This record gives sequence, structure tokens and C-alpha cells, in this order.
Amino acid sequence: MKLKSNDPCWCGSGAKHKRCHGDRRAVGARPVPIGNVTPPRSVPDHIVRPDYVTTGRISTSRKPQIQDAESLTRLRHACAVAAKVLIRTGEHVAVGRTTEQLDEIAHDTYIELGAYPSTLHYRGYTKSICTSVNGVICHGIPDDRPLEDGDIVNIDVTAFVDGMHGDNSATFHVGTPRPAMIGLIETTREATLRGIDAIRPFEPLQNVAEAIETFAASRGYGVVAEYGGHGIGATFHADPHVNHCVVRGDDSFVLPGMTFTVEPMLLTGRPEFHQAADGWTEHVDDNRPSAQFEHTVLVTDDGAEILTVTDDGRTAVGTLADLARSGSA
Ligand code: MF3
Ligand code: CO
Ligand code: CO
Repeated sequence: MKLKSNDPCWCGSGAKHKRCHGDRRAVGARPVPIGNVTPPRSVPDHIVRPDYVTTGRISTSRKPQIQDAESLTRLRHACAVAAKVLIRTGEHVAVGRTTEQLDEIAHDTYIELGAYPSTLHYRGYTKSICTSVNGVICHGIPDDRPLEDGDIVNIDVTAFVDGMHGDNSATFHVGTPRPAMIGLIETTREATLRGIDAIRPFEPLQNVAEAIETFAASRGYGVVAEYGGHGIGATFHADPHVNHCVVRGDDSFVLPGMTFTVEPMLLTGRPEFHQAADGWTEHVDDNRPSAQFEHTVLVTDDGAEILTVTDDGRTAVGTLADLARSGSA
């Protein structure tokens, strides 16, 4: 059931949702201006590039990515690197910092870890991460706009190493977190984990969308329907398309060994959005904030395992153990 603005807030405060975590006045609705973008950064020669960078063409398969023991070892490593780059970059989010500076930190970290930033020269994209602020739902390009107190920023990191792509993202508060933004960010995080928790081998992939959409609605948020997760491995964007909203006619099934991303974008406002003149940035029409989290996951014999964690189990996104601890699962 969709939470309405006059319903009691889900947090248990007893206040109306619109005066609590659903307070639209507190979230603001200012468009995010697009700043100046610097030329692409260079990558040392010893770092191996994906095919689309060297040949300009994608030679790997778009088919569902199913790993064997050998490819899984390499994918685990790519995912651990992606998790590390995301954590490190997220630590530098601060008032006055530009997303361009975050791109530089991320870029240097990929290289330090022997990885290539998958987005750099992917289909004409020229940065090493995506940074999506406030009403930007995804694919924001790092630029020279200083982050402001109360902003939220999604950082999306994809690392290519040992022939594999690992993809994850998280949304961070800038400066002092606003209660309404805490509601949005924590709900999006939990929706992502609940979607992952709903994965079962030999069952419909649609279970993921159902879990995410229902949970988001119960807290008064919409979910972007036009973007989904994707198969990932030797190919950056492969089948299946992972819906985050229930779509009639989606007959994809989940198989053990499959690897794909779960990456829902939640909305505080209306679902309409448009692409900026830069050809990438997707901004909601009503300027209301949106948030996103993303993990790369592996389908196991009884569920799913999150691959985008560091070797010592750290992640800026969250784990299924966190979900269990939240008590609401
Ligand atoms: N990492 C993004 C995803 O989650 C893709 C970014 S593609 C780019 O799929 F070209 F916009 F960088
Ligand atoms: Co991503
Ligand atoms: Co992705």
C-alpha cells in the first residue's frame, strides 16, 4: 500500500508523514545546475582496457552472464575493487568539494588497485564515475559545482580488472543530513537490500521488482521504471534487464551462477524526467530529490550473494546481515 501524506509516518513518531520523513518543504526543489567538465583523465599503459575502449566496439556477449569457478574468482576481485573505490571516494564527500574532485580521487584509486574505470570512454562518457546530485536520478557527470550543505550525491563506481566489471553505487549526505533525506536514503538502501534478498534460483526475476516497489511505496516513494539493473561480468551491460518496478510480461528467470546488478532509484516527487543537453544527466522534471544504491550480486543455490564488498567485508551500500539487523525484513 502506498503511504499517503496524511498517514502516520512509517518511523513511528506518530506525526503525519508529510510533517515527518515525508516533509517535502524540507527537501527543497531546486534544479541542479550543470557545471564545467574537464577533459578525460589518462590511464597508464599497464592498466588493461575493456574492448570498447581499445577497439571502439563491444565484442563480449550481451547474454546472461553465468560464472564458473575461474571467472567468478576474477569477478569477485573486480567487485572488491569497485567496493573499495566507492568507500574511499565517499569518504571525501563534503561541503565545498566538487564532484570533479571526487572523480579525481576515484580515478587515482582505480589505478592504484590495477583497475580501469569502466565508464571512461564507454559510449562517449568521459569520466571515471557518475555523480548524481539531488534531482539527478542517474548518470550525472562530475563537474566543478561545489557540493552544498544538505545536498545528496550518488557516486556510481564501476571497475574493470582481470577482464571483469564490478559495479556499485551509494548515495551520501553532504554536510548535515536532513531528516527527509535520511528517510529517502535509508529507504533506498533498504529497498536495494530487500530486492537482493528476494532473489531465488529458478524463480522469476520479477521478485526483485516486487520487493523493491512494495517497500518503496510503503514509505511514500516512487521507483524509476525506465532504468534497471543489468547482467554483468565480462560485459558491462548484459542481459537480463533487472526491473525495479513490476512490468507485465517480464518472464526472466533466475539461474544459479548468474551475476547481475540491483540498482533502484527512488523518487520523492513525480516520476517524469528528462535528459540534459550533455546527453547523459537524467534530471527529474519537478526537481525533487532522488536516491540510488547498487550492488553486483551472484545467484547461489538458495539465494544471492553480494559481490561488491571488500576482502574484509566492507561496503558503502550495506549487506544482507544489515538488513536482518534492521529487524523489518
Ligand atoms: N555504472 C552505471 C550503471 O550502474 C553505468 C554508467 S554508464 C555511463 O549501470 F556511461 F553513464 F557511465
Ligand atoms: Co553503476
Ligand atoms: Co549498473
